[in-house]
Amino acid sequence: MAEAQTPPAGPDLAKGVAADFAGNTLLGHVGDQDVLLVRAGAAIHAIDAHCSHYHGPLAEGLVVGERVRCPWHHACFDLRTGEATRAPALSALSVWQVDREGDRIFVRQKREQQIARGKARADAPGRIVIVGGGAAGFAAAEMLRRQQYRGEVVMLSDDAAPPVDRPNLSKDYLAGSAPEDWLPLRPDDFYTEADIDLRLKTGVAAIDAKARHVVLAGGGNLAYDRLLLATGADPVRLPIPGAAQAHVHTLRSLADCRAIIENAKGARRAIVIGASFIGLEAAAALRARDIEVHVVAPEQRPMERILGADMGDFVRKLHEEHGVIFHLGDAVAAIEGNHARLKSSGSLEADFVVVGVGVRPRLALAEQAGLKLDRGVVVDAYLESSAPGVYAAGDIARWPDPHSGENIRVEHWVVAERQGQAAARNMLGQREAFEAVPFFWSQHYDVPINYVGHAEKWDEIAVDGDIAGRDCLLRYRMKGKLLAVASIYRDLASLKAELAMEENAAF
Ligand SMILES: Cc1cc2nc3c(=O)[nH]c(=O)nc-3n(C[C@H](O)[C@H](O)[C@H](O)COP(=O)(O)OP(=O)(O)OC[C@H]3O[C@@H](n4cnc5c(N)ncnc54)[C@H](O)[C@@H]3O)c2cc1C
Ligand code: FES
Repeated sequence: MAEAQTPPAGPDLAKGVAADFAGNTLLGHVGDQDVLLVRAGAAIHAIDAHCSHYHGPLAEGLVVGERVRCPWHHACFDLRTGEATRAPALSALSVWQVDREGDRIFVRQKREQQIARGKARADAPGRIVIVGGGAAGFAAAEMLRRQQYRGEVVMLSDDAAPPVDRPNLSKDYLAGSAPEDWLPLRPDDFYTEADIDLRLKTGVAAIDAKARHVVLAGGGNLAYDRLLLATGADPVRLPIPGAAQAHVHTLRSLADCRAIIENAKGARRAIVIGASFIGLEAAAALRARDIEVHVVAPEQRPMERILGADMGDFVRKLHEEHGVIFHLGDAVAAIEGNHARLKSSGSLEADFVVVGVGVRPRLALAEQAGLKLDRGVVVDAYLESSAPGVYAAGDIARWPDPHSGENIRVEHWVVAERQGQAAARNMLGQREAFEAVPFFWSQHYDVPINYVGHAEKWDEIAVDGDIAGRDCLLRYRMKGKLLAVASIYRDLASLKAELAMEENAAF
């Protein structure tokens, strides 16, 4: 997603504005920095106007109590301290000094951040080991330090790259419009400074939950007092002849993405197998590189299973308008060099292939350790598994979702990060039930799709607005109960839907 760098907006707050400005928020600037004034009860707060995730405009967000939520991917900031209290934003925003002079207010300088950190506890565990250097693992490590945890934090990842912004790998980075330095969730020196022992290329081969240690794939054991399993998921590989060739790619890691980009250089045509989120985002990114893209998938409509028929038709048309050629109701039977043989008996020629046919949670460790499994690692409301002291978060975790009343497992970036954060606090002895409403977003060209809630099945989709006009909100209901909401360019309504679901209120 491109950074939204706008020139300074609204009135010059250093020159003062009326304290009784209309509405709850007022966007202005101090020098060349955009600053948002927010009225919360009797107080007026001033905070950086752009989200620390992808610079979303907080002026278009939702104020809830003394917090503001970002319209793009629902991060949340404390207006008093600037702290990013909910992922996907991880960095605090600056807060500004608000001076009242008569009936006017002036904002001239930043104020020191006074983030109320957790207190170091005498009974805190000595060493916390995190298996996984992705969304959940990173968010957990960062939160442990934010909570003033002073014990050892060891993060083990079998990836060669430090934690990266994975969603970008099928979007701007793959499209060639995001520079490499956007990808790391934190610069390399963060880990040293935060005293997080990040060990890359370090696989964990086994867990001994009784002895409380992990067995490293390279040899040796590492003891833990608390363990967080955040091993994510593996892309499903196609069991067809030719799928193991070097020009046939899956997309999960930075290395996968780099390999696709390398293949895309000078390529004329690509086949994308699979018409769900990763496949279609990759298709859009490759079109931005001017590569002819053929999408082959068995379903009749892309994304119908998750978003319904109307949205599926819209997504198909959107991609066709950008030149993507669909081969739906079909499958690739074999890949022979540059030829892909289709089940329908046709064949396609392509320089390379991207396979995006879903993922499988990486459960081998949990299974070997004897943790309770149910199509994922079963965790309680506090994200603790069946083995005391062993927590799980992210793509592998199946948790009791209070909103749907079901045990669910999802593959969403924001959920993984928020679970990592909640697990971190719980590993420190806080008893915080994980109750966040699931949220994900997907980006296709200039069209973002936001989704809150969780609906595996529904008996009604109520469409408000115009899907083709890219201004819509869809409510997915089962027996009258609202389960989820998908939207395009209805960001405020999407935030309000999330809040209503949190509060069990009508929407
Ligand atoms: C290309 C792409 C685009 C995406 N876009 C979006 C999006 O737009 N919106 C959205 O909501 N979601 C998106 N997702 C999904 C999202 O990235 C995942 O839901 C999220 O990363 C899950 O976080 P996690 O921590 O569970 O797993 P991961 O982020 O996959 O991290 C797992 C980590 O565990 C490590 N690991 C696994 N096993 C071991 C082991 N035995 N020993 C040591 N290390 C191990 C892995 O190397 C990895 O570092 C996207 C995913 C991909 C691949
Ligand atoms: S830009 Fe604010 S949450 Fe992503």
